[in-house]
Amino acid sequence: MCGISGIVHSENIGRNLFNSIRNLEYRGYDSCGIAMLRQGTIDLRKNIGGIDDVNSKEQLDQMQGRIGIAHTRWATHGGVTQENAHPHLSTNRKFAVVHNGIISNYKELRESLQSKGVIFDSLTDTEVFVNLLEESFADCNDLEQSFLAALQQIEGSFSIVMLSAHDPEHLYCVKQESPLLLGLGEGCNYVGSDLNAFLEYTRQAIVLDDGEYVVLGQDDYQIRQVQTRDTIGKSVLNIDWDVETSKKGGYSHYMLKEIFDEPQTIRQAMKIPAGQISGIAEMFVNAPRSYLIGVGTTYYVASISQYYFSILADCFYPSLSSDEFTVVKIESGDMAFAFSQSGETYDTKTALEYAKDHGAQTAAVVNVMGSAISMMVDQVIMQGSGPEICVVSTKAALAQTFIMIRVALELGLMQTRISRKEYEKHQLDLEEFPEMVKKVLNEQSGFVRNIARATSHVENWLFLGCGVYYPVAMESALKMKEVTYQHAEGMPAGFLKHGTLSMVEPALHSLFFVPPPEEKELHDRTLIAMEQVKTRGGTAIALMFQGDKRAHAVVDQSIELPPVSILLAPLMQMIVAQMFSYYAALELGRNIDKPRNLAKSVTVG
Ligand code: F6R
Repeated sequence: MCGISGIVHSENIGRNLFNSIRNLEYRGYDSCGIAMLRQGTIDLRKNIGGIDDVNSKEQLDQMQGRIGIAHTRWATHGGVTQENAHPHLSTNRKFAVVHNGIISNYKELRESLQSKGVIFDSLTDTEVFVNLLEESFADCNDLEQSFLAALQQIEGSFSIVMLSAHDPEHLYCVKQESPLLLGLGEGCNYVGSDLNAFLEYTRQAIVLDDGEYVVLGQDDYQIRQVQTRDTIGKSVLNIDWDVETSKKGGYSHYMLKEIFDEPQTIRQAMKIPAGQISGIAEMFVNAPRSYLIGVGTTYYVASISQYYFSILADCFYPSLSSDEFTVVKIESGDMAFAFSQSGETYDTKTALEYAKDHGAQTAAVVNVMGSAISMMVDQVIMQGSGPEICVVSTKAALAQTFIMIRVALELGLMQTRISRKEYEKHQLDLEEFPEMVKKVLNEQSGFVRNIARATSHVENWLFLGCGVYYPVAMESALKMKEVTYQHAEGMPAGFLKHGTLSMVEPALHSLFFVPPPEEKELHDRTLIAMEQVKTRGGTAIALMFQGDKRAHAVVDQSIELPPVSILLAPLMQMIVAQMFSYYAALELGRNIDKPRNLAKSVTVG
């Protein structure tokens, strides 16, 4: 949530700073700005709109200087206005800051500064901090000391980078709860709220921990504890993400590109060492009670996993939305397993903290290396899906689901719920899956697009499924809402008759997630709901598998997929439903990669 970038270089960095916030734009895109130091003066340019918009108004990429900070915003405190955009300047224009997170005691601090005559330009919490800096510096005339003095006064979650006319060689950075990383280059150093801020320029990164601050120069950096001022030695990570995977690569949107990345993402998930997978399965075996947690899409990934654990290992682990997790009684020895693409989501982090405080074991599957969640849990699986730039999650969620099938299979074997022979057959299916996905993406996309186009006017959808197809329907409905802004409600197909059936009429469209006919019980139940819709004059569309004559006879339209193993059929439907939402949004002219009101990683509560 919000993107931060800072660079100290031996050469002009206008273009690089601009590129870095462009690469972070998915974190927030209602306004942006850059502050650079030039001949002792801070040049500030900021405005509302997306990065390219603001660039055409402010010529951000033409700015001159060797040291600077930049920000792309997702508004929390103060509306979307030019004044509220970052960076923020102190009254004397000697300090500029960019900030991610929330300064929770900003109101008291603002009032106190106002009583001393400080006039604020914006309604943000951030402007309080930059004026505290000016005030502290006036007292001590020492930049590092004034940075620390200002920090002692603020509470909440924040990562902050400060630029000051008093020190043309260094940026001052601090991390508290919101993510912040350093990137180390040759004759230049970087700071960013995630790796995408500097991945184009360096692969050497340091992940900062809470309570650490950094004085960052072109060739040097010191990391210290805010409380003690002790210097800290930190390990440098070599980031192996391929820069190309964070580019659009000829696709019209990142969402489409990331859907087409899915075969490769699954291959990566297959490469996660078996020892890691069984290590997680053992944690489940050893815990008296286990919970699966996530929010939004990752809650649905948790819910899909819940079914797989049940089907393959006869184990029931409830899935919970992370923000509701603290109602659960959790005790020493229990286990909380979290899902998070970004590894920075506030609700999930808070739920894990709650679990840890009660003595529970924690584990997670995470995509972003060095992220808070990846560092705080007892065991982590790094899914290796590469950067996911589109705000809505596709490939990361798919890979997490696939990984959990691997864990459930391992657990099934350990619990002797499945035989070695069945296990090996399933493994073969997993290995063949990337090729099948590739084929479906290539061969079905035109057809999916036609149906999505023809139905893009539909304002109300029901997405219906039974068994594991139910959470798949829920996740697909979320995707639809996010990118098309049309209403889609996911529910169990059997639930329909208990109330929602009253809404059925021709304009209400129902998308059925139909299992392969071999899944007889689930298939029968889905078809019963389909008949209920049709006999009441509703419109039914089916996502189903080829050769399903019974479903074909009932529905108005269908997307028919080639046969795939029962184990992976739900995932194939999840992928096709992602495509369906994408094409509907395309037809409606939506801002697909950056849907209105959303941000990629939600680091606030
Ligand atoms: C939906 C989506 C969100 C995230 C949720 C959790 O497409 O992307 O619902 O899944 O905000 O984010 P992470 O996975 O980063 O913890």
